[in-house]
Amino acid sequence: MTLRDFVVWAEETGVLIEVEREVDTHLELARVMYALDGRPVLFHRLVDFPDWRAIAGVCAQRQHFAAALGCTVAELTHRVADALKQPVLPPLLDSAPCQEIVETQVDLTSLPIPRYHPKDGGRYVTAGVAVIKDPDFGRNISFHRLMLLDKRHFAARIVEKRGTHTAMGKCVDDLPVAIAIGCPMQVLLAAAMSPPKGVDELSIAHGLLPTSLVRCQTVDLEVPAEAELILEGRITHTLVDEGPFPDLTETMDGVRRQPVIEIDHVTHRREPIFHALLPGGMEHKNLMGVLREPTIFAAVNEVCRCTGVYITPGGTSWMHAVVQIDKQHEEDGRRAIWAAFQGHGSLKHVVVVDTDVNLYEGAEVEWAIATRFQADRDLVLLTDKPGSSLDPSATQVPGQKARTAKMGLDATAPLGEKRREYEKVQYAPVNLAQYGVEC
Ligand SMILES: Cc1cc2nc3c(=O)[nH]c(=O)nc-3n(C[C@H](O)[C@H](O)[C@H](O)COP(=O)(O)O)c2cc1C
Repeated sequence: MTLRDFVVWAEETGVLIEVEREVDTHLELARVMYALDGRPVLFHRLVDFPDWRAIAGVCAQRQHFAAALGCTVAELTHRVADALKQPVLPPLLDSAPCQEIVETQVDLTSLPIPRYHPKDGGRYVTAGVAVIKDPDFGRNISFHRLMLLDKRHFAARIVEKRGTHTAMGKCVDDLPVAIAIGCPMQVLLAAAMSPPKGVDELSIAHGLLPTSLVRCQTVDLEVPAEAELILEGRITHTLVDEGPFPDLTETMDGVRRQPVIEIDHVTHRREPIFHALLPGGMEHKNLMGVLREPTIFAAVNEVCRCTGVYITPGGTSWMHAVVQIDKQHEEDGRRAIWAAFQGHGSLKHVVVVDTDVNLYEGAEVEWAIATRFQADRDLVLLTDKPGSSLDPSATQVPGQKARTAKMGLDATAPLGEKRREYEKVQYAPVNLAQYGVEC
């Protein structure tokens, strides 16, 4: 589903909010995005950027993914897991919408790159999907936030040991890069995944939904044909200060020495739409969390019967998960805890529940903890483990994974005769209309 198809879908289903009033990309846009977090918003007029519109909240609801992929929210985990298993090489077009307009001069300051918060280190691209080629593993795509430095340069946050960082380490010279902004939904999903090295995420995107590519004009890379804006350039080995900037946790990420990206060429669609993604907002959270549920699901399924995984927004959509199992053995709850930590390295707290608990309902999960869990019997506590670099309470080690404690709660009921004592009482259903009550 292209960005433009998403706008049409959001308009037709009545969920799109359209802002006709002129909005300033300097702080004001982010304030409106924050106030409307969770909803798709199309900004028709931007101060100083008359040729551009901006869109926010593209991935702000799981329902948006489900609508794009033509499945239910509950089926998302399986759709993503299937696409991970069966990448399909995308076709290459001779010409594409993302190259309709070729800028004669590179001037990044002329793009509507917002400044989100007064404490930010600068103006930031937050929904940029970077395409690179690793000399050994081939094509890799991933999100990298980009802090605008001047007309031709960004400072890029490139997390250590992931695809882009690994490829950079192998190149003495600059690493060619193409940054696609305003990507189709399936490309956004694929860019947020971390498949095994050598698996091409654009082929995962094409496995999810048809995704055509086009060759870049100045670098040997391919980009999504339907993207709104393409920046072609090189990741250099020059380091500068990047940050501060809020991250997924909605707390301020500090300043780090990070690589400079030099941009040599800019192309875009006619009447382009800029995708602005609020850091720490629901769009950021969904893109991070939803893609880790299949990996936890697969890991837990190795050790017991897993029936569902939910990475909760309250846990920053990254560090907390609820795992639902169809318990067959007394040890299954604990086995599921260990496996969940294997399935997602940044997971910090996990609760395991039975199939009679709705894992999407916080109150039901809490009920399971209250009635089925004893801390001195059912708690798995781990100390000094690798954790999330985003967690301000973890011990941060520059250039390495942070160190953290982890906790797993086995909130499943015992098997056998005893289980009946743990079940909620049920009342027979009634027809309320017979009582003059309309619901
Ligand atoms: C909205 C969003 C923003 C992200 N920002 C960054 C970032 O600034 N730097 C980074 O290294 N990873 C960032 N990530 C995470 C990577 O895109 C993600 O971990 C990706 O799966 C890494 O893929 P790889 O292991 O194949 O390289 C972001 C993810 C999302 C969804």
